[in-house]
Amino acid sequence: MSIEVAVIPAAGRGTRMRPATRVVPKALLTVIDRPAIQYAVEEAARAGAREAIVVVDLDAGHLVAQHFSLEGPLPGLEGVRVRPVVQEEALGLGHAVFEAREMVANRPFFCLLADNLVRPGHDVLPALAAGSDHGRTSVVCLRPLDDDMLSRYGVVATASDVEEGYVELSGAVEKPGPEKAPSRFGLVGRYLFTPEIFEHLEKAEPGVGGEIQLTDAIDALGRAGRLRGWVAPVDMLDTGTPEGLLQATIVLGRHRFGDTIDDVR
Ligand code: UTP
Repeated sequence: MSIEVAVIPAAGRGTRMRPATRVVPKALLTVIDRPAIQYAVEEAARAGAREAIVVVDLDAGHLVAQHFSLEGPLPGLEGVRVRPVVQEEALGLGHAVFEAREMVANRPFFCLLADNLVRPGHDVLPALAAGSDHGRTSVVCLRPLDDDMLSRYGVVATASDVEEGYVELSGAVEKPGPEKAPSRFGLVGRYLFTPEIFEHLEKAEPGVGGEIQLTDAIDALGRAGRLRGWVAPVDMLDTGTPEGLLQATIVLGRHRFGDTIDDVR
């Protein structure tokens, strides 16, 4: 079964990218020649999605929508329908995903954080789909994390060994820190969810930082024995910080323009 819809939350405040994000939403910050969010839509399209639901904020969300619609579809995205949905207040990532519920309409869906980009040649969505029992089990993308990262990411609890990249999961904790972390595997911004996630998001209370946390709903899936992980072989690129955006630009630039970029002075 192919996954035909992707949800791309892009309504965060982007405070770590101030002042660039005072007017321009983080998702529209440029990496080489296109806004970060376009890479995510292209990635979803490569995995077979024909519909991308982009969760945007009230002020600048129309700009994100216009990017995909003005002057017709973008090259390579002709068959993909990009649909915006507004998150009126930045109440958290879990809340942003919940805003897409009606448009998702009871289908399994990919979820991609637009500020995490995959490295060229390292798409992860096909592996998530392959491990999902034809869209009947949620599968989250994982990476092993260093100690200092365990207070910055959601971390999962494992219920099996890793076999051919896949691992059964029994829960997840948001930003636990090294002492409380149930494993070393962190959630890195790519997910395949069954619509069951919305039942947990509907009940979710504000968690870490007073936000509705996606990790808490992922935890509920794990506790119900309805969650699997896939350990990606390489790290993602994170465009949500100044250093990360520069790194993403260099890595993608080297891929586009070759090693000549190393000669830049
Ligand atoms: P982040 O926490 O990385 O993004 O959220 P942020 O809040 O924009 O960044 P900082 O911390 O202020 O610098 C991860 C993803 O979730 C989205 C963001 O747009 C980003 O893609 N998000 C987060 C929402 O869509 N709505 C929210 O309420 C929070």
